[in-house]
Amino acid sequence: MSRQYKIAVLKGDGIGPEVVTSATDVLSAAAERNSLNIRYSYFPIGWEAYKSFGRTLPPDTLSGMKECDGWILGPLSAGSYPKDDMDYPMASGKLRKHFDLFANIRPVKSFLKGSKKQVDLVIVRENTEDFYPDRNLFKGYGEFWPNEDTVISLRVVTRKACKRISETAFSLAKSRAKKKLVTAVHKANVLIEGDGLFMEEVRRVSKGFTEVTLNDGLVDSIGMQLVLSPEKFDVIVTTNLFGDILSDVAAAEVGGLGLAPSLNAGEKYAMAQAVHGSAPDIAGKGIANPVAEILSTSMLLEWLYAQLGDYILKKCAVTIENAVRETLAHGDSKSLTLDMGGNASTQEFTSEVVKRIASI
Ligand code: NAI
Ligand code: MG
Repeated sequence: MSRQYKIAVLKGDGIGPEVVTSATDVLSAAAERNSLNIRYSYFPIGWEAYKSFGRTLPPDTLSGMKECDGWILGPLSAGSYPKDDMDYPMASGKLRKHFDLFANIRPVKSFLKGSKKQVDLVIVRENTEDFYPDRNLFKGYGEFWPNEDTVISLRVVTRKACKRISETAFSLAKSRAKKKLVTAVHKANVLIEGDGLFMEEVRRVSKGFTEVTLNDGLVDSIGMQLVLSPEKFDVIVTTNLFGDILSDVAAAEVGGLGLAPSLNAGEKYAMAQAVHGSAPDIAGKGIANPVAEILSTSMLLEWLYAQLGDYILKKCAVTIENAVRETLAHGDSKSLTLDMGGNASTQEFTSEVVKRIASI
């Protein structure tokens, strides 16, 4: 049996409680299979926290998370938070900034049976600055409304952030069996200084990774190429907003947002968080696809393994990924959720994954 790992669980809003419960059910099954000792600590966030404490990211949630080895976060209905919330507009952005989770790693893989395109790419998105007004000032919000008809939004690009996100992307590309190719995405023809600085750091970092090829492209053209031929990409590195947009575009190529996991990682902490939002249109119906949240959780275990070297963590991560892959590869209308062409509930799909874990 391993040492005990404390996992913070923050269920979030909308479909959050449904998909996070699936993720912890699957994690518990994988932990049992591999003798990984885990304990969950639950912390309020989002609407649940607002109703009890008048804010969406209470200080006790922040301090409690710090005591845990890793965190699983569900989606947040940030778009609907009230303006009197002290954490307005976005608890998730605040978490990324507060804990310096500077890298948002977003794999996009063809898992579904009959996928026409064999996609296997990873978007490495800078997570702490750029066109995100909640992240780029020490105090206050980086959008200004000087007169009724004008809004000015601030974009911040720093050398430090560009350097470390580039290092993350090149290290990842180096470790991948496949193409060892980094594509840097920017708009340096228009955002000459900001994206110029970004590309300067990308090129500087690339010199230390001679085994990795560097390509680059303008975000609009890369958006089109991601739709036409996503198979040709390996690792994509980009700034925050472009990464946010491109990851939804790429997810569409492999079956949609329900299949798009992500990890927010810094030097000390990491947080599993699916790419998708709280999906209010299907919340509470028990039909959400939990794959994105489940695979985000397996990414968290991989990250913990890379930090701590406890091989049981790696075994657990592989168990989860294999069980999901098998369930999707053999899935039929009875076992897949609606967005994957089936009519199974979130819970029925989760049970299939748990069954596979027991039989692997
Ligand atoms: P969304 O990602 O919640 O939903 C977009 C579409 O994808 C909807 O049709 C939804 O039903 C579907 N979808 C998303 N996840 C799914 C899943 N797991 N299974 C099946 N279908 C799924 O984006 P939307 O509607 O723009 O935003 C809703 C709320 O979520 C807003 O308040 C927004 O601010 C917030 N949001 C939060 C994010 C986060 O916490 N990471 C990310 C994106 C949006
Ligand atoms: Mg997004």
